[in-house]
Amino acid sequence: MNSAASINNAFDYIVKAHLYDQYPLDWQTIFGNQQPLTVEIGFGNGEYTLELARKHPDRNFVGFETSQSSVSKTLRRMFKEGLTNVRIVMTDGRFGLRNLFDDESVECVILNFPTPWSKGRHFRRRVAVTDFFRTLQLVLTPNGRLELATDVLNYAVDVYKMSKTLGFEPEEMVINGPREIMTRFERKWRHYERNIHTLTVYRGNNEKCDRLLERSVVMPHEKLLETEASIENLYSGLNQSHKSPSGNEICVYKVIYEGREKDTFLIKTIAVDMYDHGEGEFEQHYFIDIYKNNRQWLLKLDPISRPFITPAVKFSIRSLAKTLKKQ
Ligand SMILES: C[S@@+](CC[C@H](N)C(=O)[O-])C[C@H]1O[C@@H](n2cnc3c(N)ncnc32)[C@H](O)[C@@H]1O
Repeated sequence: MNSAASINNAFDYIVKAHLYDQYPLDWQTIFGNQQPLTVEIGFGNGEYTLELARKHPDRNFVGFETSQSSVSKTLRRMFKEGLTNVRIVMTDGRFGLRNLFDDESVECVILNFPTPWSKGRHFRRRVAVTDFFRTLQLVLTPNGRLELATDVLNYAVDVYKMSKTLGFEPEEMVINGPREIMTRFERKWRHYERNIHTLTVYRGNNEKCDRLLERSVVMPHEKLLETEASIENLYSGLNQSHKSPSGNEICVYKVIYEGREKDTFLIKTIAVDMYDHGEGEFEQHYFIDIYKNNRQWLLKLDPISRPFITPAVKFSIRSLAKTLKKQ
């Protein structure tokens, strides 16, 4: 897909990871070389990774960012400069790091000024939680490291303590030390005279996480005989949350769009994968197609909005077929 030779426009820097059919991704083919990998999660306007990429043409850089406006600013800059050793993935970096990289293949993971999401309802959105260290154990090279910079003392202290407890090797935290590259948030916090805490943590001896994506993707689909199904059931299942027996897969069917002949339907769906005892969650929005063919109803993912094929996405197709089934 995105090989090094194919950067013809700014969008070629985006790796559409959800469209691949083999995981983890083959970064060697994507970059066209075997240079060591650095990953930044939440790169914002991209200053940090781009400057590293300029300084180290012998290394490859992968940035994760969920904000579209941040990504478009970064893309424009990368394309203008003609950088060849950077790629962007627009998805949750926790999910990306866990599923898109081979075992022991990433030298460095960078977290600059992650949103703190302090304890409470939003704590699940925090990047550096216990589960993250299981992911690091899986993908970091034996001497690999996490580099954190934050203005939030508690975040740095939590990472220090957690990493130590989990068998990683944190160096002493540095406060307001010299920094070669400043990001937008770093400039902002220095302007307000907030302390900047930096911490490097080396991979240790933690347990590894499981991946959510299978190595080879099989597109989920279901079939129901016309006589077995009641299409009216679709409407009764709308906006209700469906949970798998393990509780790890949840989905909600939000909107139904009907074809004129009532033989095709498009179902707007949200699926959430819960993992590591509910500490992590990964949410995706997409459409399911239902259509009639040879006296059967067929259910499959709509190709335009194709999500990552996670357990919750598979569950959403199975559960929809179950909803359609006449009692
Ligand atoms: C406070 S900003 C810091 C941006 C940049 N690192 C800097 O120092 O200027 C946090 C950034 O992380 C992104 N972000 C938050 N959670 C993320 C996640 N799980 N995966 C990828 N990006 C994430 C946000 O969209 C936002 O751009």
